[in-house]
Amino acid sequence: MALTEKDLQHLPEDGIDSENPGKYRNLLNDLQGNILKGHGRDHSVHLFLQFKPERVEVVKQWIQNFAQTYITSAKKQSDEAFKYRQKGIPGEVFGNFFLSRHGYEYLEIEPFQIPGDKPFRMGMKNEEIRSSLGDPKIETWDLGFQSEIHALILLADDDIIDLLQIVNQMTQELRQIAEIVHREDGFILRNKAGQIIEHFGFVDGVSQPLFMKRDVVKERVNNCDFDKWDPKAPLDSILVEDPNGNTKDSYGSYLVYRKLEQNVKAFREDQRNLAKELKIQEDLAGALIVGRFSDGTPVTLSDIPTYAVTPTNNFNYDHDLAATKCPFHAHTRKTNPRGDTARLITTDGHFDEAFKEERGHRITRRAVSYGENNPNKEPVSGSGLLFLCFQSNIENQFNFMQSRWANPQNFVQVNTGPDPLIGQPQGTQKWPKKWGEPETEEYNFQLWINMKGGEYFFAPSISFLKTL
Ligand code: HEM
Repeated sequence: MALTEKDLQHLPEDGIDSENPGKYRNLLNDLQGNILKGHGRDHSVHLFLQFKPERVEVVKQWIQNFAQTYITSAKKQSDEAFKYRQKGIPGEVFGNFFLSRHGYEYLEIEPFQIPGDKPFRMGMKNEEIRSSLGDPKIETWDLGFQSEIHALILLADDDIIDLLQIVNQMTQELRQIAEIVHREDGFILRNKAGQIIEHFGFVDGVSQPLFMKRDVVKERVNNCDFDKWDPKAPLDSILVEDPNGNTKDSYGSYLVYRKLEQNVKAFREDQRNLAKELKIQEDLAGALIVGRFSDGTPVTLSDIPTYAVTPTNNFNYDHDLAATKCPFHAHTRKTNPRGDTARLITTDGHFDEAFKEERGHRITRRAVSYGENNPNKEPVSGSGLLFLCFQSNIENQFNFMQSRWANPQNFVQVNTGPDPLIGQPQGTQKWPKKWGEPETEEYNFQLWINMKGGEYFFAPSISFLKTL
């Protein structure tokens, strides 16, 4: 029996058990990996392709072969992870294949069978999209991103030598059918404690929507309970039926890809200046920017870092409605308000519905760092985050988050100011002078992240790619 709408709207109590998937088996076999759970490899290479004119049949054949040989299904990904845990046997090179709207058109897929999401069809270079997201002019993007992109190949492995060998071999092969218009090499950046961080030095990837049982159970152990925040999310927040799938449970997901350059030196200087202005410690200033200290401690819970091995995610802002501990503008509060905006739109006491709607804007992040791989250096340019996120509806999820929450001056209250990390354009925020007290100071924290290009993609089902 195929999965029903109800199966997509309600995750099993503990998430999907990949070792015992039951009715989700077909779904996991035909769905690409890295969507419901991150691939977890330390190194990855992203190849952006533009197919050569009038080679449609050869290109189709090449994609079929790639799907046979390299694409890792969600099921294979978890089977390999199981083998690694049990016997220490590492998995094969991980592979994903994504298509843009232009890619579907090149492959001569009928218009009604091209995934229908509006921003996906418009593309990230579209003027309406660009201005709603506040993105810089396309002429300032990396050259490769300025060209028409048809497909994206993602290859990942823990062993960088093995990975680069396969990438070199693939680069040769691809010459027949495509131009690699752009390439990005990503890696997992870690701090001294081995935690995953981004270039500004903050622990990253803590709060995610969860779908798989192993993740849900682990999170429950770390957070005792989900009484303040339930990280689980329904499948229909990340998956849509693949219009071209060939099995009864063929699903795909929309991928938002953005290259975000980080000016680490200037960010740290601005953070020090902010601390000076507010007469507070630098680490607290950082926490007021991000919403968490660099070790991941949520600033709404504490005014000092607690150095937990696994930062908590079981919190909300109910005890901090005036935002005297965590400002409304803080990156994590703007991108996941945990009830703040639901309270605003609640009518006649129907908070639950409004809260469900707010939670429906969540995205599943799969970002990796690029550039300088030494956390002690402070690069000005050439380093940043390859921001990838999956969702079922780009307009209602990534685009909403960036344009309706992160960017605007007004958020929950008037004159909250933009998200100091990613809000475009920059503006002035109100900062608490003392943690937990209402007195505020105005400060314009500048934007030290620069968008260098990107595109919207779809991750088609494997059965479609194998039978193109
Ligand atoms: C959380 C950094 C871009 C959405 C975080 C966290 C950090 C961070 C340090 C806290 C740790 C965690 O909960 O994972 C960055 C940096 C970025 C960036 C350095 C750019 C270079 C973005 C963008 C979006 C976004 C473009 C979407 C518009 C989120 C979300 C969370 C988050 C949804 C989780 C919030 C929560 O659930 O509490 N980010 N981020 N981030 N970020 Fe970003």
